[in-house]
Amino acid sequence: MKAVLMGCGKIGSEFADDARIAGIYTHAAAWRACPGVELVAVCDTDAERARRCAERWGVSECHLDAAEMLERVRPDLVSICTPDSTHAKVISLTLDSPSVRGILAEKPLATTLAEARTLAERAAARGVVIAVNYSRRYAAGHQKLARRVRDGLLGELRHVRGSYTKGTIHNGTHWFDWARMFAGEIASVRGYDVLREGGDDPSLDARLEFANGAVGELAAFDQRDYSLFEIDLVGSAGRLRLFDSGHCYRIDRVGDSTRYSGYRTLLESEGGESDMRDTLLNAATDLVNAIRHGRQPICAVQDALAALAVAEAVRSSAAAGGRVTAVER
Ligand SMILES: NC(=O)c1ccc[n+]([C@@H]2O[C@H](COP(=O)([O-])OP(=O)(O)OC[C@H]3O[C@@H](n4cnc5c(N)ncnc54)[C@H](O)[C@@H]3O)[C@@H](O)[C@H]2O)c1
Repeated sequence: MKAVLMGCGKIGSEFADDARIAGIYTHAAAWRACPGVELVAVCDTDAERARRCAERWGVSECHLDAAEMLERVRPDLVSICTPDSTHAKVISLTLDSPSVRGILAEKPLATTLAEARTLAERAAARGVVIAVNYSRRYAAGHQKLARRVRDGLLGELRHVRGSYTKGTIHNGTHWFDWARMFAGEIASVRGYDVLREGGDDPSLDARLEFANGAVGELAAFDQRDYSLFEIDLVGSAGRLRLFDSGHCYRIDRVGDSTRYSGYRTLLESEGGESDMRDTLLNAATDLVNAIRHGRQPICAVQDALAALAVAEAVRSSAAAGGRVTAVER
């Protein structure tokens, strides 16, 4: 299969040269390592970035215009690594290209639910498989922990708490997808503009009700201080925390308190690094297999729509002073 890259920035290519990032964490490196796939062309509106990327990955075709690249190369697979505000437009363009069978799109799929739904409908009508890189879905360590939670690790889930920075759509949807992965559907929300960041995508706080009866809260923090991305799941039989952007985890289980006789408390039982290596290689390989076997990818377009639906409910609730707002299905 022939793959092409749109957007030669950090997640497209440049993170590969960051010595602190372990494993395959760029689209270019993922296609390079994916069996049966060849990265044949790259495109960026910034000529210097496109040139550097083509040289870095030994790709002969280097373009400044996405439509021109699609027309010339006729790829099977397209990676979308451009800024959030451009996703709807470049994915729409990609869906016009008859050769395309799969799209590996960076999150969010679009910046509005309406645009994302239109893309999803067009992809379904054409039989194009779209995978969205809510990357923790592709982390082996998180998949394993989510399975254990579903199998009863925490007993009955009571409360899901989280922290994030940098925009309800941009990173909030990352967290909503993470929360859905561990705790299932979010049924209703209340949103609050505590930080008052302004702009197109302010980082809002939220209170959440899950379909399984658990409740939750998500707090937004100021990105200018530092990045923060965590989840804390408390159940009737234990607690799971994922912190350090999800790279570390800790499980506590209920037991007899070592401090007070006759009390039951949470006691540390397990923890360490959770495996987040090679998430992009996992995503690329899974997309190819999804196309070959006619199935949905691990993070499908429906997951991207669900995360955007929660974010939009939080935004409309915040605009209405924190009114309880059902999440659209
Ligand atoms: N899944 C994750 O964990 C994760 C991590 C980082 C970034 N992202 C997402 O990836 C996307 C890109 O982020 P980044 O940090 O790599 O950004 P970046 O600014 O480093 O790179 C984006 C590149 O896209 C190019 N570009 C802009 N418009 C274009 C167009 N119409 N056609 C071709 N190229 C175009 C820019 O010139 C730039 O080089 C964002 O949507 C972001 O949300 C996801």
